[in-house]
Amino acid sequence: MKNSDQLLSGKTALVTGASRGLGRAIALALAKAGANVAVTDLLIENEAVDKEKLAEYGLLASYFSETENVRTLSTADEIEKFGSRSLGIKMDVTNSDDIQKAIAQTTDKLGSIDILINNAGVMDNMAMLEYQTEKMWERDLNVNLTGAFNCIRAVWQQMKQKKWGRIINISSFVGLSGAFAQPGYGASKAGLIGLTRSVALEGAKNGITVNAVLPGFIETEAVKLHDPKMIDRIRARTPMKRMGTPEEITPLVVFLASDGASFITGAAIPVTGGADLFVF
Ligand SMILES: NC(=O)c1ccc[n+]([C@@H]2O[C@H](COP(=O)([O-])OP(=O)(O)OC[C@H]3O[C@@H](n4cnc5c(N)ncnc54)[C@H](O)[C@@H]3O)[C@@H](O)[C@H]2O)c1
Repeated sequence: MKNSDQLLSGKTALVTGASRGLGRAIALALAKAGANVAVTDLLIENEAVDKEKLAEYGLLASYFSETENVRTLSTADEIEKFGSRSLGIKMDVTNSDDIQKAIAQTTDKLGSIDILINNAGVMDNMAMLEYQTEKMWERDLNVNLTGAFNCIRAVWQQMKQKKWGRIINISSFVGLSGAFAQPGYGASKAGLIGLTRSVALEGAKNGITVNAVLPGFIETEAVKLHDPKMIDRIRARTPMKRMGTPEEITPLVVFLASDGASFITGAAIPVTGGADLFVF
């Protein structure tokens, strides 16, 4: 049941990359806090994607699509059961037409967008520099960094007019530390922190806050696909000796999206179990 004194009641949120993992958990948490939520993703149930397109989208997209583990529409259904309104929408963050259509549909059905969560990301390009290609590098940058830029630009006027907005970019602690054998990923996540701080400066006079959340290793469906030996090494190297859960990221996102976070902007906040600290 919806309760008017919930933290985000009356607000409309759009989450990118919400068919699984962190994005899905964030969409559910925002809705539980009272927001109406557009659940968007490159992948959507009941839509056949040809093999060539899937190969372009990457290994993770192929795996989740072929194993029928796409939950964009079903997450929207789940949200409606809490009493919040929701829509599941196919939206590729690298495609301006998709973004415009998704925003128009959300605005029409759920109201203008107050909260944008740039979560969509690709993290399956793992290869040492000498095996990287221009195409792999461009995909990392296009989805993880330009995708967020595209979505911010698309909601900016709505937020500016209302003099209220919350933009939360899901970067990563590797945006500060670097990412071994993931030069494009590391650079895109560092770029996202720069984008956050730059846009925060412009939003400040318009009631729009822009912050970045920097997760450490979080046990999402995608991360669980890593080689178990690598997962053991990650756990051993994390001071808390474990990975985090999506539900350990969502409370911060909900808070940053709320009125209570009105004086926080341009921040890049690690949520890592200490993985960003020096360990020996
Ligand atoms: N899980 C972690 O350990 C971790 C750590 C730090 C940062 N992050 C970041 O958090 C976010 C979510 O991570 P996750 O573990 O849930 O990963 P994930 O791969 O499970 O989720 C990424 C989502 O983005 C979607 N997506 C990919 N390309 C897209 C595009 N072009 N347009 C729209 N949607 C697209 C995917 O379909 C998927 O639903 C990513 O940005 C990731 O870089 C994750």
